[in-house]
Amino acid sequence: MFKLATIIVSLLSRHPCQATELLTEATLQAETLQDFQYLRYGVDVSFPMHHHMPDDIKTSDCGRNDRLKEFALDRLDYYKNHFLKGCRDAFGEESCRRSEDERIEMSKRQPATMKNMTKGLGFHKMKLPPELFARILEFWHQNQHQASQEGWPAGSTYLNHWESMPWALPVDNITLLGGGYELTQLIWDGLLQIISEWTGQELQHASMYGIRIYRTNAVLATHVDRNPLISSAIINVAQDIVEPWPLEVIGHDGFAYNVTMEPGDLVLYESHSILHGRPFPLQGKFMANLFVHFEPISPDAKLHDLPIYKQPMKPSKNFICVNH
Ligand SMILES: [Fe+2]
Repeated sequence: MFKLATIIVSLLSRHPCQATELLTEATLQAETLQDFQYLRYGVDVSFPMHHHMPDDIKTSDCGRNDRLKEFALDRLDYYKNHFLKGCRDAFGEESCRRSEDERIEMSKRQPATMKNMTKGLGFHKMKLPPELFARILEFWHQNQHQASQEGWPAGSTYLNHWESMPWALPVDNITLLGGGYELTQLIWDGLLQIISEWTGQELQHASMYGIRIYRTNAVLATHVDRNPLISSAIINVAQDIVEPWPLEVIGHDGFAYNVTMEPGDLVLYESHSILHGRPFPLQGKFMANLFVHFEPISPDAKLHDLPIYKQPMKPSKNFICVNH
């Protein structure tokens, strides 16, 4: 497995091996640093995003860049012979293939129907206010051993739950010490202020998942969130890892960024349009993250108006206009 960290690359919607003109900088960086971590790429290199990963990397233009080819082949091997094989062995070919088709189709179609709600890359890393993080951390320390296993449908490929089932610790659970309305409201209020400033939008609550605990070898397949999970936040609560386990996002510039997190870090991201995942197996014991999602709203919206984050549909070429 390659160690990764910061920035990686190619062009959105392009097959990675067609973007050879972009690889010059990557080559120079990689040769200088003697490391794969500065390879640049975009979609469909680290994990299938817009297309199922090709079998022809060896004979394609990717072969012009040895490091990118090696990285792409390593990822393809992991995906086919470990990730997908694990799902098939557990649940059979059909359900795993259906889930992958659905994930990849949504990853390709949905971002094109959405409006960007921020300027820039569509994600931003910062520190959570210390007082708010202290309250969340206190809850974690008091309740971490009360977490319970999540349940995932057979054949779902969003997480490799057949190999590494995540655990969950809901912050709104009143049976947990410090859990319930007060803590939940504190998190909503803190994040509402931060994400309102980031987006410049009026927001309403969409979903607060609570704390999810990923464990050894966990992989989160790259995806976009369903509506109305639009303006979202990940808080890193605690972790015990032996190497960075980055959140990989495809920014609005079409390039991949691997964002590492420490406890107390907060990543804001446009989860409806920014492809995001953790496609590299978690090396270590666990990572505990809290997820909060908002929906931008327009105070002037009328009943049948589109949500402000959706693009109006363009008429299809096959649409027939009849003049009366
Ligand atoms: Fe997500």
